[in-house]
Amino acid sequence: MAESDGATRLWGGRFAGGPAEALARLSVSVQFDWRLAPYDLLASRAHARVLAGAGLLDPDELGQILAALDDLDSACAAGQFRPVIEDEDVHTALERGLLERLGALGGKLRAGRSRNDQVATDLRLYLRDHARGLAVAMVELADALTEQAARNVDTPAPGLTHVQHAQPVTFGHWLLAHVHPLLRDLDRLRDWDARAAISPLGSGALAGSSLPLDPAAVAKELGFTAPAANSMDAVADRDFVAEFLFVTALIGVHLSRLGEEVVLWTSTEFGWVELDDAFATGSSIMPQKKNADIAELARGKSGRLVGGLVAVLTMLKGLPLTYDRDMQEDKEPAFDAIETLGLLLPALAGMISTMTVRVDRLTEAAPVGFSLATEVADWLVRRGVPFREAHEITGQLVALCSVRGCELEDLTDDDLKTVSGHLDPSVREVLSVQSALASRTTPGSTGPGPVADQLALVQHRLDSWREWAVEKVVPR
Ligand code: ARG
Repeated sequence: MAESDGATRLWGGRFAGGPAEALARLSVSVQFDWRLAPYDLLASRAHARVLAGAGLLDPDELGQILAALDDLDSACAAGQFRPVIEDEDVHTALERGLLERLGALGGKLRAGRSRNDQVATDLRLYLRDHARGLAVAMVELADALTEQAARNVDTPAPGLTHVQHAQPVTFGHWLLAHVHPLLRDLDRLRDWDARAAISPLGSGALAGSSLPLDPAAVAKELGFTAPAANSMDAVADRDFVAEFLFVTALIGVHLSRLGEEVVLWTSTEFGWVELDDAFATGSSIMPQKKNADIAELARGKSGRLVGGLVAVLTMLKGLPLTYDRDMQEDKEPAFDAIETLGLLLPALAGMISTMTVRVDRLTEAAPVGFSLATEVADWLVRRGVPFREAHEITGQLVALCSVRGCELEDLTDDDLKTVSGHLDPSVREVLSVQSALASRTTPGSTGPGPVADQLALVQHRLDSWREWAVEKVVPR
């Protein structure tokens, strides 16, 4: 190897000297792909056993290599072995560590594999493992929302469309409407995981190996369901990164919608929710301020989560098979998505679980803005009036109230009769938020009954996620 500068390189043989500094600086990835080290070491152990099975390492050599890999693993975990900037990437750094421990014997492990199948394997392992951690944090946020929902099963609130008062809803129902997207995201993670559980090892650089390797054994040892069926696809494929980033981008979008609502709910104009001091921030100049920065960061960070997906899709577009160095750009967005959500989700969970719901303000706001008008129209429909006509009649009542500056229940018996012969004073029975909510009894609707049923369903589904989230990806 041409290592005149003393650096370990995996490709020095045909080169007269070391790389130009500008190239080395551009090409180095160890500052971020070092996160893959524990997974690279796992894959190396599996590969060493396969080489021994093929007769390419004798039992003594296998023992020495496994012991050195264990030692290197502990040294990495303890921070005693660290990458240096001359280590182009994580694979180079770990080979250096092995050579330091074993001398020439350390060079035997590279037989039959390439950084191309290694890096694809490492990243799959890393993402599958971290998907579990992400699921744990998602379940914690879903729990926080569900617990608040349980406390507000019959708290009335003004349901909005176009941010205008539409119809009364229960606040519990509203909070649970933020849990269902998270449950779908969790479903997406598990579906993604099944497709990501394919092992690229054995594919080598692109063409497989002339050595008698055992890709199925490696796959099994690393917790994959099967080895890749096509070695070229195995090293060229980054669908698993793009799909993962789609899931994290969509999680970001969901969190941004929740964040935006919390910003509204905590505003002086709404005043529906008060944040706990520990989960709100102040202003350096305005002493009265209490800001929902967590909610705003949820809104803001959705940008980088969506950006990561777009970066990887754009990087992959038009890329010829098989491996191209462009693909080194797959890692930072993936790491960033995991780290961003790792910060955001616990903060959101804490903010939601400690916030105080202002039941008085919500109850007061629920009927405002003629939100009970649809009840009148439905009342007319139950009396045989075609909905088109019922809508028209109710619209006239609202117009009359607007002129008078009063609410629907303030209209006199005469007013009702003047607007339509179909109306009579008994219509006032439906002009209460309580009756509007109590009448919503069909499954999935906003009445306290169906919301209690929904709550049980959501809690049950979250329990099944708790089990998946602690599953080990690699049986150790
Ligand atoms: N650092 C590289 C990456 O992340 C590892 C694979 C390099 N392979 C190669 N043939 N240069 O993609």
